[in-house]
Amino acid sequence: MGNRELLIFGAGGFGREVAAWAERASWEGRGVTVLGFIDDHAPTGELNGRAVLTLETAGARHPGAGVIATVGEPRLRERLIGKALEAGLVPAPPLVHPNVEYDPATVEFEEGVVVCAGSLLTVNIRVECHAQINLDCTVGHDAVIGAYATLSPGVHVSGNVTLESHSFLGTGAVTVNGLPGRPLRVGTGAVVGAGAVVTRDVPAGVTVTGIPARARETG
Ligand SMILES: CC(C)(COP(=O)(O)OP(=O)(O)OC[C@H]1O[C@@H](n2cnc3c(N)ncnc32)[C@H](O)[C@@H]1OP(=O)(O)O)[C@@H](O)C(=O)NCCC(=O)NCCS
Repeated sequence: MGNRELLIFGAGGFGREVAAWAERASWEGRGVTVLGFIDDHAPTGELNGRAVLTLETAGARHPGAGVIATVGEPRLRERLIGKALEAGLVPAPPLVHPNVEYDPATVEFEEGVVVCAGSLLTVNIRVECHAQINLDCTVGHDAVIGAYATLSPGVHVSGNVTLESHSFLGTGAVTVNGLPGRPLRVGTGAVVGAGAVVTRDVPAGVTVTGIPARARETG
């Protein structure tokens, strides 16, 4: 069987980083061919030796190709995926860097997920669709990484933690562990600032920073 084809939506820094290793990953034994970037705001042509296409062109030339969106902001990532599907692309299988360590029997990656080099996931973990795990993260046992969640580089998620959909954890953020049957929760759309240490549940939509992490004053 031939390689499967991948389009990377977003020609920014993270997109270029992922493009640099994506062809060393595999999808159920099949190789990956990167067709190029989709970006309606970058100049079309070539970037790092790969084509840069508008979404319209990508959909017309490569119907049925797999797509990932390489932007960190969860809601924007969801919008880009929605547009890509409307243009005739399909969600890519999970793209996991070949040096990522995890137990394949108990760790589940859903479609559109990206996991970068140096990350380590232990056991009994679900990473839901289009979540992004950047460089050098660790995820402990019995964790759920929700759909469209973002783990920036160097995030550490302890055991029994649920990061709900669209949550964003900045570089170097840490969550302490929850308990069996009572996971520590970072709510939907919550933001955890770079370097914060989360010691208790974060409500949906709230931004927390610091050690221990506290909600930021608003207004
Ligand atoms: C927490 C965060 C979302 C706040 O963003 P913001 O609302 O735009 O905040 P600002 O940059 O305007 O900073 C407001 C204040 O909070 C402070 N602050 C910002 N981020 C902070 C953080 N992570 N921890 C502690 N204090 C922080 C700033 O120093 C500033 O303080 P001041 O008013 O005394 O000068 C953001 O700073 C952050 O940490 N984002 C994560 C970025 C990241 O890791 N990206 C990954 C790229 S791969």
